[in-house]
Amino acid sequence: MSRATARAHANIALIKYWGKRDTQLNLPAVSSLSLTLDRFWTETTVTWGAPADVVRVGGEAAPDGFATRALSFLDRLDPARPPVAIDTDNSFPTGAGLASSASGFAALTLAASAASGADHTTEQLSVLARQGSGSACRSLWGGFVTWRKGSLADGTDSHGSPLAPQDHWDLAMLVAVVAAGKKPIGSTVAMERTRATSPYYAEWLATSEADVDTAERAVRERNLTTLGEAMESSTFKMHATMHTARPSVNYWKPATMACIHAVEQLRSKGVEAYLTMDAGPNVKVLCNRADVEAVQSALSAHVSRVEVLLPGPAPQVTR
Ligand code: DP6
Repeated sequence: MSRATARAHANIALIKYWGKRDTQLNLPAVSSLSLTLDRFWTETTVTWGAPADVVRVGGEAAPDGFATRALSFLDRLDPARPPVAIDTDNSFPTGAGLASSASGFAALTLAASAASGADHTTEQLSVLARQGSGSACRSLWGGFVTWRKGSLADGTDSHGSPLAPQDHWDLAMLVAVVAAGKKPIGSTVAMERTRATSPYYAEWLATSEADVDTAERAVRERNLTTLGEAMESSTFKMHATMHTARPSVNYWKPATMACIHAVEQLRSKGVEAYLTMDAGPNVKVLCNRADVEAVQSALSAHVSRVEVLLPGPAPQVTR
């Protein structure tokens, strides 16, 4: 028996991953770019060679769907694996568009790899984590990360790459928590329905790579205006493809719209703040660290909870 614990941080896509070209391997139809966050993380301990398979979240037996997904992911990593115990905990609410599957599968991949004594490179870990949840492949690095979609059928060239480290740029990401409960439809199902039914999906594909190129340059040059505009465009295009799916997928709540307007108003007053949203109602706002208070107070008029996050570190094997 051997055991390892890993902590991996959540990431928020600034340019979105939405749509797959291979649903088995989670191969994306578009490239994406993300920021890893500091205070939102998952810590996972894997015991390799336990009496029987068991999965616990926060010390309690995990819901069936969750346990099956984690264990079948490890089956894929090592078809001859022994029984395992997986103990996992999040520093933030799951299932609310706060990217828990990203930090979750990154931490599980890293802990399982270390516990099994495998010797994977970070890129190989990213390829493996991607098969658990696409966005997880970006949580193998801190700071800004690009995930190029790749072109190989086996997915070995579809992984994250570090773009700029945690301390590259004094930005903050605020999360206006509109709802922290479980969302009505998960991102995997929503993105597949979008791909299959939205008449705007082809346009989404046609414009996404240019957004990643623009955002990469903007990150390198620390140009918040260019990055923010590309980020909002990517977000609204992604949500437009969801809204035009059949049946339509709409995560927005009234408070989501109120936060969108609050960000527009901040900009009209000269505060550089830009928003993004994932498969959920929460609004995430990127700004200079010096403007955190102004942004926080504008969002607090519409939601009862605003989380302030900074760029975060790479994952680590902690024990
Ligand atoms: C809207 O990575 O959760 O957050 O690969 O099916 O597990 P699966 O999907 P997931 O989707 C994330 C979608 C998004 C955008 C993003 O993170 O890039």
